[in-house]
Amino acid sequence: QRLGSGRQTPGEAVAPAAEALARLTVLYGSQTGNAKRLAEELGRRATAAGLAVRVVRADAYPTRELKQERLLYVVISTQGDAEPPDDARALLEFLGSARAPKLEGLHYAVLGLGDSSYPQFCAIGRQLDERLQVLGGQRLFAAGEADVDLETVTQPWLEQALQQAREQLKTSAPLAKVTTLRTARSTPAWHRDQPFAAPLLLNQRITSRDSDRDVRHLELSLEGSGLRYAPGDALGIWPTQAPALIEAVLGTLQLDGDALVQAGGEELPLRIWLAERRELTQLTRPFFAAHAERSGDQSLREQLAPTARDALAATFSHWQLLDLLRRHPAAWQADELVAALRPLAPRLYSIASSQSVVGEEVHLTVSHVDYLLNGEARWGAASRYLAQRAEGESVPVFIEANERFHLPADNERDIIMIGPGTGVAPFRAFVQERTERGAAGRNWLLFGNPHFHADFLYQTEWQQALKSGQLHRLDLAFSRDQQDKIYVQHRLREQGRRLYEWLDGGAHLYVCGDASRMAKDVHKALIEIVTEHSGRTAEDAEAWLNQLIQQGRYARDVY
Ligand code: 2AM
Repeated sequence: QRLGSGRQTPGEAVAPAAEALARLTVLYGSQTGNAKRLAEELGRRATAAGLAVRVVRADAYPTRELKQERLLYVVISTQGDAEPPDDARALLEFLGSARAPKLEGLHYAVLGLGDSSYPQFCAIGRQLDERLQVLGGQRLFAAGEADVDLETVTQPWLEQALQQAREQLKTSAPLAKVTTLRTARSTPAWHRDQPFAAPLLLNQRITSRDSDRDVRHLELSLEGSGLRYAPGDALGIWPTQAPALIEAVLGTLQLDGDALVQAGGEELPLRIWLAERRELTQLTRPFFAAHAERSGDQSLREQLAPTARDALAATFSHWQLLDLLRRHPAAWQADELVAALRPLAPRLYSIASSQSVVGEEVHLTVSHVDYLLNGEARWGAASRYLAQRAEGESVPVFIEANERFHLPADNERDIIMIGPGTGVAPFRAFVQERTERGAAGRNWLLFGNPHFHADFLYQTEWQQALKSGQLHRLDLAFSRDQQDKIYVQHRLREQGRRLYEWLDGGAHLYVCGDASRMAKDVHKALIEIVTEHSGRTAEDAEAWLNQLIQQGRYARDVY
């Protein structure tokens, strides 16, 4: 059991009122691990300050205790534009329902995490913050809204949370017994802020030349790093921006790349800030707003109006930073630019290997995002950086655990893996690991991509696994090999009866890949399948699936 995952020590399940008074509860809802990491940090620091604290994952929190809470902090992320993390769905639904209790004795504060390249930045944190107040809770201080660079917002928020907790708990019952969960975890030598330089061992295109997609199989060495990961975990990558893009930004703004710029206590040439420290491919709302202000361009300002949300979303999906700079010129000084651009954030890739098979290596499946926009090349920062790395060069990496997307501990369980496109990556790790474990449970993979002959990722490996009995079913959906699109959910429907039987028999279901369309359509198909084959109403089928999510039997790693 990982620490801080919210399992409670016996006797703690029902908090006596007196104890609740003297205790801080930190709840987190986390999809990729950031909210969890911050909640645990808060837990550690509160413990160090002598406070009684428990850190609980939202889906492990007994909601009947809400009424007794006196001090509650919630750290919660927003996925995409306005989706909650899976582990917080049930809690949010409960709080939004008529069953939610009055929270009159409660003091609380919320730290929201999000990505400001989505127009409804931090929507979930904001909604929760408002809801707790509507239920009668007293907001101690304003909700934090942290962007992907996190620290600038999270550190001051954590400071404030600690200080307020000290005051709140001092004035209530004495701290009799400190019933903290163990939250201290030995920090690995290499982490997000201190990545390991992993030599690239292999960089191989695994789609054929006539495919529209350039998908790479990458192998990196972790030798000597001591880094460990489990199938389902992600590898964090710190990319460097492409020189051509940096020069284009410098040229457009007529800035000197050698000019020294100070920010965050450091002085570096502007070119280095742009190459290693700032986001240059994605647009963010704060930068867009600053640029709109500077350019005095009314058409940009209009897009920022609450009613223009769709227009802004469309702009963000089509434009990169350079499009904005070129089409709507405005003057920027070097230091202002560095201050206004979002700090670079690492990119997370689902790991495609099992360490029990590849040892001190880590494998990735990376789609090189590269396209023409109005006749000009555009790309994704990390995928281009990775695709262009030569074997022998090194890549700054760290491990980001994803405990909600791990294999069942019970090897007898069947697993169903739905992974179209590069979503197949973690399932390569799963099948490797289950084989190594000699797991008795069956493995069923559903994979999809445009064309059989060009885009069948890891084709020979899957076929071998089928032959040797390591894979028990493989269903393929090559969307463009016939006139009508065939997607993984069509295969799911065809196999509806079998799918329901597997699930009803205790199988774990995993979905990895596109969040905006695929995961939603698959979810819809699942509701239909369960409805049809279990005899439940659609509503009950959905509730049943939600239960599976809560039990960790239906897990998603979508992006
Ligand atoms: P398409 O690009 O031909 O539409 C991996 O990207 C595969 O997922 C591709 O075959 C892609 O098909 C398919 N795909 C696109 N939209 C999808 C959706 N809503 N559900 C499932 N698969 C989808």
